[in-house]
Amino acid sequence: MLITPLCVDLIDAVADVMRFGEPYVTVRGPSDYLLYSRLFASTCPVAIDDGAVIGAVIAMRSQDEPDDVHVQDVAIHPAHRRRGVAGALISSVAMQARVWGCHRLWLTCAPGNTTAIATWQRLGFRNLPGSYTIDGIQVIADCKGPGRCHPVFQLDLPAAGPVAQPGTAAGADT
Ligand SMILES: CC(C)(COP(=O)(O)OP(=O)(O)OC[C@H]1O[C@@H](n2cnc3c(N)ncnc32)[C@H](O)[C@@H]1OP(=O)(O)O)[C@@H](O)C(=O)NCCC(=O)NCCS
Repeated sequence: MLITPLCVDLIDAVADVMRFGEPYVTVRGPSDYLLYSRLFASTCPVAIDDGAVIGAVIAMRSQDEPDDVHVQDVAIHPAHRRRGVAGALISSVAMQARVWGCHRLWLTCAPGNTTAIATWQRLGFRNLPGSYTIDGIQVIADCKGPGRCHPVFQLDLPAAGPVAQPGTAAGADT
C-alpha cells in the first residue's frame, strides 16, 4: 500500500471512495477537493493499493489554533476495511502534525457510528468529556451548531521523541 498526499489527479477517485463512507461522511465537491489538494495536501493522505484508491483522510491544521489538526473526513473502501488502512492514514496525519509541533488531532463522530468509535478508541483517541452519554460515549451538545450533538475524540500528540504509531501500545497510551 502506498500513502500519498492528495493531488489533482486523485480527486475523482477520492470522491468515489468517500461515497463508501456515507451516511457518516459527506462527499465534497470537486472544487472542495481541489482546494484541499492545494491548501492541505500534507494532511490529506490517500491510500493506494494496486493502483486503486482504497481510502483517504481529509484533515487540516487550524489557523486560529495552530496546535490543532482537525480530521474532517475518513473513508475506507469496504473491501479493504479491518486491514489497518485508517490507522496508517491517521498515522501519516499525526506524523505531519508532530513535524509542525501540533499537540492534538481531533474529530467528531456520529453518536451511533459504533465502527468509527471503536476505530478511534483503538487508535488511541480519547473521548472528550461531554454533556451526556449515549451507550457509554460522551456527547458534546451543540458542538456542531444548535441541536447537532456529537462525541468528540482527541489524539494527544507527544511533544518530542519518536512518533507513536496509532494502534500500537505506545499510541494507545497517548
Ligand atoms: C471507520 C473506518 C474509517 C475504519 O477504517 P479501517 O481501515 O477499517 O480501520 P482499521 O483497519 O485501521 O482499524 C483499526 C482498528 O479499529 C477497530 N475497528 C475497525 N473497524 C471495526 C469494526 N467494524 N468493529 C470493531 N472494531 C473495529 C479495530 O480495533 C481495528 O483494529 P483490528 O482490526 O486490529 O482489530 C471505516 O470502517 C469506514 O470507512 N467507515 C465508514 C466511514 C466512517 O464511518 N468514517 C468515520 C467517520 S467519523
